[in-house]
Amino acid sequence: MKRDLRARSLAKGLSWRALGTFDTTLISYFITGSPVKALSIGGIEVFTKVFLFYFHERLWQRVRWGMHDAGSGIGLENAPENIHPNTGQLLQRQVREAYLHQRSKVIWLTGLSGSGKTTIAQELERRLLQENFFAQVLDGDNIRSSINSNLGFSLDDRKENIRRIAEVAKLYLNSGVITICTFISPTKEIRAFAKDIIGADDFIEIYVNAPLEVCEKRDVKGLYSKARKGEIKEFTGISSPFEAPENPALEIRTDQENIDEAVKKILGFLEPIIKH
Ligand code: ADX
Repeated sequence: MKRDLRARSLAKGLSWRALGTFDTTLISYFITGSPVKALSIGGIEVFTKVFLFYFHERLWQRVRWGMHDAGSGIGLENAPENIHPNTGQLLQRQVREAYLHQRSKVIWLTGLSGSGKTTIAQELERRLLQENFFAQVLDGDNIRSSINSNLGFSLDDRKENIRRIAEVAKLYLNSGVITICTFISPTKEIRAFAKDIIGADDFIEIYVNAPLEVCEKRDVKGLYSKARKGEIKEFTGISSPFEAPENPALEIRTDQENIDEAVKKILGFLEPIIKH
């Protein structure tokens, strides 16, 4: 809900008065027949009414009675107790899954920058679509240049990054889509957070593992060399931690397996789970 600033109340008072005073002066002139009297009445009135209007307006701002709640601002209307999420999603999800002939899951690829998450995800998505599964990739660099463009790389920002992604992935999941997420998601805590939001039964963690030396040698985006020179702060593996997952559903060694082998391995694991 928006409220008028004091200056706006005053501006409204002035414009209303100019109009009102013109009206009063005109009526006074018709009644008295004297332009002097008419101008005097109008002249005094302009001062008294402008202040009266201002106080009258500010007083009404305090009265909530009769207000219509547009619900667009930051105020009481956004308090958690006033928000009632629709919990009928489960049925919708089953209906959508049946329609798409698949069971939806979130496939969460974690690993260092340059480990091959995006390459694997894109090929996996392509192969799933070829086999008539409906899949969608959510990728770190894309999401970070759109919905999460206001976030940096401190651990708190990474957690917020993953929180939003996990919420989005959950929406996809409930739409019946096989959702492939590719985010460094560097710590156990951050991944546990994502798993908690998405739900343990629907969260499939895959560790895309290539040793730091290999990722650094690949340096596809030139970021490792910048990080070594100190031009990028808090870079994962260099100046910010990466904790390897302890019990991933699968681990892909991209320095040992090629893309075709990696995707076949993931598909072999996934197919029995996603078939309807
Ligand atoms: S996460 O840690 O919050 O999960 P996310 O996967 O979204 O990270 O983004 C990682 C991508 O951002 C990397 O692939 C890289 O291109 C880019 N990037 C830019 N700065 C950094 C940094 N300091 N640490 C890691 N990645 C970075």
